[in-house]
Amino acid sequence: MRKPSRPQRLEPLPDIADDSLERIATEISQCQKCDLHKTRNQTVPGAGPHSVKLVFIGEAPGADEDASGIPFVGRAGQHLDKILAAAGFKREELFICNILKCRPPENRDPTLSEMFCCTPYLQRQLRLLKPSLIACLGNIAVKFVIGPDTPGITKIHGEWFNSIFGIQTIALYHPSFLLRSATREKGSPNWQMWQDIQTLKKRYDSL
Ligand code: URA
Repeated sequence: MRKPSRPQRLEPLPDIADDSLERIATEISQCQKCDLHKTRNQTVPGAGPHSVKLVFIGEAPGADEDASGIPFVGRAGQHLDKILAAAGFKREELFICNILKCRPPENRDPTLSEMFCCTPYLQRQLRLLKPSLIACLGNIAVKFVIGPDTPGITKIHGEWFNSIFGIQTIALYHPSFLLRSATREKGSPNWQMWQDIQTLKKRYDSL
């Protein structure tokens, strides 16, 4: 397992008596810590059971997620669903969320300041969920969760890292990136994702 090159710094979380996923979701729905609250329609805290072995972390909600309040329901999400099902994962066994809980306008990349503003929610979610594994989808999530000097996703997809959350984390392609490549030929991003998701499933099954 690779070590993160230069970990991001997260503030230690204060103890929060009676914290719960519902309470976090309510706080997110009222959050005005950054300007994204001015343009969002719905907040997207994440979805899944209260205790999981594996959490998927994407980048930020898109238009469909902003309209529904549910992560990964648009085209990228549907592609992710197919990959998960083909590998034998049940979506209802997983917690799926994003670094940001609000949509950046025009789907621009999240800023570092937005990510630091928002990630205490993710930290709290992970503290409650206690997953053994994280799967990071795409460069933005990888560089935040694993470290800013992590090589690009085309170099390190399928590899395991220790993350800023102290949880073993695999780097995976983002499903939006995979949608840009129609082919599934050997060596293509979709083919590589298929190898990586099977690597993840093997580790998941061994827990
Ligand atoms: N892309 C993401 O990173 N997250 C979503 O929830 C949807 C699309």
